[in-house]
Amino acid sequence: MPTVVNIDGRIVPPAEAKVSVFDRGFLYGDSVYEVVRTYGLVPFEVGFHLRRLGGSARRTGIEVPWDEPRLEAEVARTVQASRGGDEPSPGAAPWNVGERQARIVVTRGAGEMGLDPSLAAGPTVVVMVLPLHGPPHAAYETGVAVWPVGDRRAGDPSAKTGEHLFQVMAVGEARAHGAHEALLVDRAGNVTEGASSNVFAVREGALVTPPLAARILEGVTRALVLGLAREAGLEVRERPLSLRALEEADEAFLTSTVREVLPLVRVAERTVGEGRPGPVTRRLHAAFRARADAVAAGWRPPGGRVS
Ligand code: PDD
Repeated sequence: MPTVVNIDGRIVPPAEAKVSVFDRGFLYGDSVYEVVRTYGLVPFEVGFHLRRLGGSARRTGIEVPWDEPRLEAEVARTVQASRGGDEPSPGAAPWNVGERQARIVVTRGAGEMGLDPSLAAGPTVVVMVLPLHGPPHAAYETGVAVWPVGDRRAGDPSAKTGEHLFQVMAVGEARAHGAHEALLVDRAGNVTEGASSNVFAVREGALVTPPLAARILEGVTRALVLGLAREAGLEVRERPLSLRALEEADEAFLTSTVREVLPLVRVAERTVGEGRPGPVTRRLHAAFRARADAVAAGWRPPGGRVS
């Protein structure tokens, strides 16, 4: 069955995947999470994701009851349990066919009701593995639109927490305007990131992306793309990116685990560059694809890290 859930180490089918309504993840978004994807059914960059999960847990004081080797083993075991049973996926990007996404969620757990975190009786760990539904293949040929909204997130964006109401509403607004993703813009008029993606522009041959100090998530895909760009000899500038500069860029793209490198061709009503995927974007996506294909074929970088 392609969807299976691991709850505190017990693998169950989706219909049996239930946690308590007293769980603080449900009540307060009191949880941290990661989304990992597979290539060739091998979890990609799982070490980077687990280190980031550890950072999110430290920042929120949520205890992760399993160490990294145990988490990695549970993700791998749950992916194995999800093999087979895939439905046909017409229009899917070929690199996503038969692949999985694993969402690792650690909540502060259930307990007596109340905001006080000391009421939590102990953490709940869930690994949900499901078929990977990325953007359709056509989106990589045509590019996508984003819709700018004010970045009014309350918490620390470098921690990946379950508290997402702002992002849910932002993506709802973007979709209502026919856009693929919400583009978060701070009070100074600078782009921070997408609701669930990092943002890049290409200007005069150089790659520009907001720095980590701009209150963004350190994307796994962002780090990998920055490395590939440097390897390709591109100039990389991690510096503030105004909304205006993005609109006036030669090219732009989004990155995230499920999107890889997705061309961005419109910001609200304004066309970016030529209004179609640009050559630098295509080149970086090709480099990313080559790296992911190598991993799927069994290649491992020295030290086991891809980026
Ligand atoms: N989100 N920025 C934000 C706010 C994100 O939530 C994400 C990813 C990213 C991209 O990070 P990465 O390249 O590591 O996936 C950037 C996950 C995938 C999600 O919430 O589904």
